[in-house]
Amino acid sequence: MEKREELYRGKAKSVYKTDDADRLILVFRNDTSAFDGKRIEQLDRKGMVNNKFNAFIMQKLEAAGIPTQFDKLLGDNEVLVKKLDMIPVECVVRNYAAGSLVKRLGVEEGMKLNPYTFELFLKDDAKGDPFINDSHVVAFGWGTAEQLVRMKELSLKVNEVLSKLFDDAGLLLVDFKLEFGVFSDGSIVLGDEFSPDGCRLWDKETRKKMDKDRFRQGLGDVIEAYEEVAQRLGVPL
Ligand code: TMP
Repeated sequence: MEKREELYRGKAKSVYKTDDADRLILVFRNDTSAFDGKRIEQLDRKGMVNNKFNAFIMQKLEAAGIPTQFDKLLGDNEVLVKKLDMIPVECVVRNYAAGSLVKRLGVEEGMKLNPYTFELFLKDDAKGDPFINDSHVVAFGWGTAEQLVRMKELSLKVNEVLSKLFDDAGLLLVDFKLEFGVFSDGSIVLGDEFSPDGCRLWDKETRKKMDKDRFRQGLGDVIEAYEEVAQRLGVPL
């Protein structure tokens, strides 16, 4: 597999073409961003940890029947993935109240949500990733009603699989964000990444934050926390 020109540079990953029209290479960088890219810092080892973490999780999800973009780990910071036409919508599942939900509704952080909630945000940093609903997605042509049904179904299945996986490692899966894309055969496939950058994970006993909120809130030991989560899950680093 030959790496060709850079196609796109995101806040934390760069995307490269390959000599296969159906495959891309993602490079996980150490850049860590918060507040829609307004704050960016380099954190040592982050690219490597998130790449390996993501590969581990994507393979667990594939094994549970969820189609993902993951193909093959290529190195510490690189992964080969299926080329998707990304849908510019972020799907957020929450099991406990935190983050923007707490701000928006004034509920207490840590409140158990029963059942989970499912929310959509437009992926648009310049607009601050606004909260949207399914009618906006269809009306503005970001996705079809059928694609949305599948995205929700897959998001809830991911929640089932990963809540159990993290629970077995002594962690609460508080919330997480997924992005989907359309593969060349028209199917909806889970894309982007699953790492502590895009979810909230709390220690089950102490409720210590083990995810990117350590960076957002200046709590320190960001990568140390990611590595501890990886170690508890058995992710080879
Ligand atoms: P929120 O509470 O800020 O809405 O975030 C919900 C979850 O989604 C949380 O786990 C962080 C994740 N997330 C991202 O990964 N990227 C984003 O741009 C946003 C807004 C949230």
